[in-house]
Amino acid sequence: MDKTPILDVRKLSVSFSQYTTALIKHRLQVISDLRVKLYSNEIVAVVGASGSGKSLLAHAILGLLPYNASLGGEILYQGSPLTPKRIEQLRGKEIVLVPQSVSYLDPLMKVGTQIRNGKTDQETQRKATATLQRYGLGAETEVLYPFELSGGMARRVLIATAVMASPKLVIADEPTPGLHISAAKGVLEHFREIANEGAAVLLITHDLELAVEVADRVVVFYAGTILEEASASDFRDVSRLRHPYTKALWHAMPQNGFKAIEGMQPYASDKPRGCPFFNNCGFAQKNCDAEVPYRKMNGGYVRCIRGESCAT
Ligand SMILES: Nc1ncnc2c1ncn2[C@@H]1O[C@H](COP(=O)(O)OP(=O)(O)O)[C@@H](O)[C@H]1O
Ligand SMILES: [Mg+2]
Repeated sequence: MDKTPILDVRKLSVSFSQYTTALIKHRLQVISDLRVKLYSNEIVAVVGASGSGKSLLAHAILGLLPYNASLGGEILYQGSPLTPKRIEQLRGKEIVLVPQSVSYLDPLMKVGTQIRNGKTDQETQRKATATLQRYGLGAETEVLYPFELSGGMARRVLIATAVMASPKLVIADEPTPGLHISAAKGVLEHFREIANEGAAVLLITHDLELAVEVADRVVVFYAGTILEEASASDFRDVSRLRHPYTKALWHAMPQNGFKAIEGMQPYASDKPRGCPFFNNCGFAQKNCDAEVPYRKMNGGYVRCIRGESCAT
C-alpha cells in the first residue's frame, strides 16, 4: 500500500518524571517502541491487558498526556508531524475521541445542545437530528439530560457526537465497557460503518473476540510495547499468529478453550531487558533477554526472535 497513512506512529515512547521518597527525580519509561499505521477505511484494534499502554497511546496522539510525561518517536498525521499546535486545532474536529466513560457527557446540558456543540444554525440542527436518528435516537432524545439516558443510549450519544464532526480519525478507547455482548457488537458495528465511510478508526479494546470480528488488523500490546501486528483473519488459525503471547491470547478466547495466560505482565520499573513476555513464555530461549527487534513476518510484524514455525 503506497498511499499516505492517516496516522503513522513511529517508535513512540512515553516516560514520566517521578520523585522517589528521597525526592530524587527519575524517569520511568512506561511505553517503548510502539508503532502503528492506520489508513482510511480501516479499523485497527489495539488489544492488550490492563496497564499495557493502550490509553497512553490514545492520549499521546490526542495531545492529552499529563505535564510530567515526555514523548519520544514520531506521530505523523496525513504525512506530517502532529505537533501540539496542530492537534489542538484538529481535536474534536478531524480527530475525535470516543471515550470509555459516559461521564464525558456534560450532566447539565441537554443531549441536543451537546451534540450541536453550542451551535444553533439550521444546518447544524438538521445534521444533529439526522445523526441521532442514525443511531436510533429520536428527536425526543435531544431534550433529555444525560442522567435520563440508559447506558446504551448514552454510548450512542457519544458516538453521534464524534460523528457530527465528520472526523478523519476516530480514536475509541474501550467504547463498550459493561455492555452486554449484543449491545457491544452493535456499538462496534457503528465503528465499522464509520470506517466504511472513509474514516480511520483506532479501536482500543480488551475484548479480542469482538476486535477480530470488526477490525481489519489487530495490534497486540504487552507491558508498554507492541508484540505483534496481525490481520484479523490470522486469528481464524492459531498457526498464523506469530508471538507466543498472541497465541496465548488466542487460547484464552472462550471458543478456543478459555486457557488462562501464565504469569503477570511486568510493571515498567521491573521490566526485563528484551522481550517483556520472556519470563512467562513457554518458548523462551537464549537471547530473548537481549534486545528483540520488531520485524516483518508472514504479512504481519512480530517482536520475537523465534523462526517462522513457532509451535503452538
Ligand atoms: N501519569 C502516569 N504516571 C506514571 N505512570 C503512568 C501514568 N499514566 C499511566 N501510567 C502507567 O502506564 C502504563 C500504561 O497505562 P495505560 O495506557 O493507562 O494502560 P491501559 O490503557 O492499557 O490499561 C501503566 O502501567 C500505568 O500505570
Ligand atoms: Mg486504558
